[in-house]
Amino acid sequence: MGNILNFNVQDLFVLAVKYLTESIDAKDKYTSGHSDRVRLYAVKVAEYIGLSKNEISTVYLASQLHDVGKAKISEHVLKKKGILSREETLEMEKHVIYAQHILSKHPLLQEVNIIVKHHHERWDGSGYPGGLTGENIPLVSRIIGICDSYDAMTTNRVYRRRKRDSEAVRELIAHKGTLYDPKLVDAFVALFEEGEIEFLKGMNFSRGFETNAWGEAVKLFKRAEKKFKDPERKYSIELKMLEIHNKMKQLDQSLLTIRKLEQLSSEYGIAINDKFLNENALYHYYKKEFDEVINISEMILSNRHISPLEHARALRHLAMSYWKLNKKEAALVEMSYCEEIYKELSGSLMLVHDKNYSIGLKYFELLDENYQLYEEISLNLAKMHDVQARIQFDLGAFNKALKYYDLSLDLKHDLDDSYGLSISHGGKGKLLSAMRRYEAAEQNFLMNLRTSRNLEIKRGIYLVNLERAKNFIRWGKLRKAKTIISELKKQFEQTPEIIMALVMIDLQEDNREKMEKKLGQIDPKKLKDPRCLIEYYRLMGQLYRKKDLHTAIRYIEDAAAISQQDRFVYLEIELRSLLAEIYSEHGDTAKSNLQLKLLNMLKMEEK
Ligand SMILES: [Fe+2]
Repeated sequence: MGNILNFNVQDLFVLAVKYLTESIDAKDKYTSGHSDRVRLYAVKVAEYIGLSKNEISTVYLASQLHDVGKAKISEHVLKKKGILSREETLEMEKHVIYAQHILSKHPLLQEVNIIVKHHHERWDGSGYPGGLTGENIPLVSRIIGICDSYDAMTTNRVYRRRKRDSEAVRELIAHKGTLYDPKLVDAFVALFEEGEIEFLKGMNFSRGFETNAWGEAVKLFKRAEKKFKDPERKYSIELKMLEIHNKMKQLDQSLLTIRKLEQLSSEYGIAINDKFLNENALYHYYKKEFDEVINISEMILSNRHISPLEHARALRHLAMSYWKLNKKEAALVEMSYCEEIYKELSGSLMLVHDKNYSIGLKYFELLDENYQLYEEISLNLAKMHDVQARIQFDLGAFNKALKYYDLSLDLKHDLDDSYGLSISHGGKGKLLSAMRRYEAAEQNFLMNLRTSRNLEIKRGIYLVNLERAKNFIRWGKLRKAKTIISELKKQFEQTPEIIMALVMIDLQEDNREKMEKKLGQIDPKKLKDPRCLIEYYRLMGQLYRKKDLHTAIRYIEDAAAISQQDRFVYLEIELRSLLAEIYSEHGDTAKSNLQLKLLNMLKMEEK
C-alpha cells in the first residue's frame, strides 16, 4: 500500500508531521494521541467561530505541531512522576523555544512558528514565554491553549489522574478571563454542550489501536449521542458503538445496538447501509451462526452500489464462514475475489483523493480522511491475509501460510495494531509448531499471551496456553508442558482439550493405563470441533496400538477420514505417516508403503 509515488510532496509533508507528533506523544503512553485530539478540538473551534478555510489549515498544522519541541526534552523530565523541580519546570517550558528552533527554519512555517511559540501564553499574562496578555496573544495560540488544557485535564498523566470531562469544562469556565480568552471558552463550552467534543474524543479513542481505550470510547459516544439532535448522526454513532462491541466481543451489547439501529432506521426512515449489514454479519460470525453470516453477506454482495471496502469485507466474512464450515475451496474462491478488490483499491485511492479535492474538501481534512482510508484498507488487507494463512495452513501449504502471516504482521505492525498482532502471532505460533519449529512457535505464543493478559481476554489466555502446552509436548519438554497445564486446570474447568493434552503427555511417557483412564472421561459425541474429534481418535489409536492392532488402525483411519473430508490436509499427512509406522512395526510392508504413497500424493498436491 505504501507506494511513495502515490503521494505528492504535500501529502508526504503531512504524513511526516503526523509521524513525528505521534512519536513524541508515544514517548509517554499517557499522552498517546494528544496532538491528534488537540488538533481535532482546535479545528472544530476554528470552524465554529467562522475562521476561513486558509486559517483553518493553519490551525490544523499548528495544533498538530504544538508540542513538536518536546522531541528535545529529556524523557526523565517528560515521564517524571510527581512534581517537577524548578530546573525541570524551566526545562519543560523550553519546548516552545525548541519548537521555534525547528519551525523557524522554513519560510512557509513562519505563521505556524509564532502560533506554536505562544500556545502557553495566558489571557492575564501569567503564561510563557512572552508573558503576553489578551488579544496580543495570537488567536490560534489562544484556541490551542484551551484545547491543550482540556486534553491535559481529561487524560491520565503520569503525575495525576484525569478529571471528568464535565469537570474540566467547569475548570475552563472558572478561568474564563484569567487564564483563557472568555469568548473562546464560550465557543468550546457550546461545542461541548452539543456533544461535539465528546464525539471527537470518542472518535480518537476508537480509532486508536489502544484497545483499553475502546470502552472509554463507547462511554463518550453514549454521552455525545444523548446530546445529538440529528437522527442520522445518532445512527452513525450507534454504528460506531456496534463496531466497538463487536471488536471487544461484547455480543449482548452488540445485539442491543443492532436493535437500536433497526429502530432508528424505521423510526426516521434511515436507509440500512452496507456497513451496518457487515457489522451485523460479524456479530453472527462471533455467535458461530455461519449460515446467517453467509445470508447477510450475500445480500450485501447483491447490492450494485456497494463501496469497495465494504464489498471486500463482505467477501472476507463469506470466506471465513465457508472456512469455518470446512468448505475450504469455496473460501479460497471468495478470497481471490477479495484480493482483486484490494489490488484495485490501492490503485484507485489517489483517484478518490483527486475527486474529493476537486469538489472542494479542505485540503487537510481530505488528507486526514485519506490517511484513515489507508489505515482502514491496510487493516482489512491484513485481516484478509490472516484468513488466507489459516486456509493454507489447513491445506498443508505451510510456506504459503507463513508468507501470509508475515504479510499480515507487517501491516499490523505499521498500524500499531496490538490486538491484531496478537491474533496473527497466535496463528503463526500454531503453524510453526506444526512445522516443528518449536522455539519460534513459543516466541509467537508469548507475544499473543502478553496482549491477551493486558486486555484480560480470559478465553484468549486459555487458548494460547493450551497451544503452548501442546507445543512443549511435541518439543519433548514435558515438565514445562505440565506446569502450564496445571495452571490451566486451576483457572479453568477441565475441558476435553485439557484432558487430551494430558493424554499426550501420558503417551510420551508411555503410560497407557493413565491414558485409558483419561480418555474414558471424554464423550466423543460432545466434541463439536472436528479437529478435537480427529485428535481424540488419534489418541485412541495410540492407546490400542500395542494391544489391538485392528482397533488401533480403525481409530486412526477414522481420524484420517475426517481430516480428508474436512480438508485438514496437514493432519491427514500426520495420520498417514503414523499408519505407515504402525503397519511397518507389524511387518506389513505393503500396507505401510500404500500409506506412504497416499501421504506423498497429499504433499505433492499442496506444492
Ligand atoms: Fe505545550
